[in-house]
Amino acid sequence: MQPRPFSQELIDRLAQAQSVAVLTGAGISAESGIATFRDPGGLWQQFKPEELANVRAFLGNPHLVQSWYTYRRNVAMEKAPNPGHEALAQLENLVPDFLLITQNVDNLHQRAGSTKITELHGNITHSYCIDCGKTATEQEMEPIASGTAAQCTACNGYIRPDVVWFGEMLPEGAMAQASHAAQRAEVFLSIGTSAVVYPAAGIPLVARDYGAYVAEINIEASAIAGSVDEVVLGKAGEVLPALVAAVEEKRS
Ligand code: APR
Repeated sequence: MQPRPFSQELIDRLAQAQSVAVLTGAGISAESGIATFRDPGGLWQQFKPEELANVRAFLGNPHLVQSWYTYRRNVAMEKAPNPGHEALAQLENLVPDFLLITQNVDNLHQRAGSTKITELHGNITHSYCIDCGKTATEQEMEPIASGTAAQCTACNGYIRPDVVWFGEMLPEGAMAQASHAAQRAEVFLSIGTSAVVYPAAGIPLVARDYGAYVAEINIEASAIAGSVDEVVLGKAGEVLPALVAAVEEKRS
């Protein structure tokens, strides 16, 4: 039996909690084969976010940005949720008041069965016209593969991915929903995030300020490791199934 990297206190608190909130970052999708952003070999090592993930870059070269997101969307759709995603979908069913707050845009939480979810940074499987807002169809996206920028058939506007770019506001209401859940939470889990991008990185700290027991699950200490009650070092795909199984056993 592997020694458990988490405390009995965390198990007990999760087992009796009425209200739990979770924040996830790219680290929970790493074991599905999706690159994180800031790890060695991460996306921001290969590409410059300022050249791809902002409106100015998009308007300067819409086809380049559309191609990059088409690549990332295809990667996300080819990969599968891992046991970490699946454990969180299970945890949702064990806790009366549960919210999964994700920074990820890869749709893997939804494919794993999570339903009580708020996406702070959007979802890469959805695209829309930057001018009229119409949801893009697969047909409208086809020109990208042949080197042409995809445009809306209704108004000719360029089509963009439904993800939050640097300098943009988060989706209406997402932060409010996340903050309220953090304020209610008795236990807050911060999983697979470097916790360097705000306002998302501040949400675990709101939970702490409102009295939640905050645990971080990561392969290394994040920027908020010094502010949480418990740092669980390990891979999300290994730690979460063991943690949820222990909670399920305690609840039964
Ligand atoms: N299990 C748990 N944690 C892991 C694993 C794993 N298997 N693999 C990597 N990690 C951790 C890393 O140690 C790191 O702390 O996941 C974190 C990934 O950090 P980032 O790459 O910075 O990703 P994230 O925190 O989600 O970035 C936040 O930044 O660029 C923006 O919009 C983008 O949503 C993203 C935001």
